[in-house]
Amino acid sequence: MQVVTRIAELRAQLEPFRRAGRTIGLVPTMGYLHQGHEALVRAARQECDVVVVSIFVNPLQFAPNEDFESYPRDSERDRAILSAAGTDFLFQPAVAEVYPRPLLTDVAVPELSRTLEGRTRPTHFQGVATVVLKLFHIVWPDKAYFGQKDGQQVAVVRRLCEDLDLPLELRVVPTVREQDGLALSSRNVYLSSEERRAAPSLHDALLCGREAALAGKEGQAVQAAMEERLRKEPRVRLDYAAVVDPDTMQPKSDLTGQVMLALAAYVGRTRLIDNLVLDL
Ligand code: PAF
Repeated sequence: MQVVTRIAELRAQLEPFRRAGRTIGLVPTMGYLHQGHEALVRAARQECDVVVVSIFVNPLQFAPNEDFESYPRDSERDRAILSAAGTDFLFQPAVAEVYPRPLLTDVAVPELSRTLEGRTRPTHFQGVATVVLKLFHIVWPDKAYFGQKDGQQVAVVRRLCEDLDLPLELRVVPTVREQDGLALSSRNVYLSSEERRAAPSLHDALLCGREAALAGKEGQAVQAAMEERLRKEPRVRLDYAAVVDPDTMQPKSDLTGQVMLALAAYVGRTRLIDNLVLDL
């Protein structure tokens, strides 16, 4: 695995592969890798000739009150994981390489960014859309890999690609979970052992929602089923439970076709998100 920190160098390294018609897969990450990221790299390895993984904790997607500074980082461990998973290039730029000057350009998909996560994190998806578009322009991948765990992020990036005719295929990889259902997340490291025991209630709540949806309940009743399950867990404070269209992020009442059940909740001070997409 080659580690590259400069944009120009990465472009120069990838150019011969592109000219030879090799397919390039990009897995964008913020590091502190877990099995969810490994699943993305595995998928890229299976489907592409060249696998590029980026590790970049993107300051633009954190609000000033959020955990940019304390976001977990472990470069050495990440590099070992990526090398073992068959990564060809690790792109790990410094902040000044990606943002040499304050940006005067906005990249945003406001319609999809205001609801759900956007209510608590109003600037988050603009930061995500900006860095993802920059990474796409730097790497020019044929395929880019994202986890379903960040369902709204997937919707934002999908629409960005569609609206701007970006010539790449978005590949969405299912959420990887612990045995008790907790979705893997770099932020799970913040949980105390008692909070860790309470955290699978998010997944349990999604399962309650799924049961209600499969029983033919409408959106509001499904949302209520999720909320009721989380109310039983004193260590968990609900931020939102929602039943939405996975493309538009708008609430859905009549549950037919694709439906996303989405949750965000604080477990202690840690904010976790999770979702399930149902085909009804
Ligand atoms: O999902 C993430 O880890 C980040 O939002 C991403 C896509 C790497 C952009 O910084």
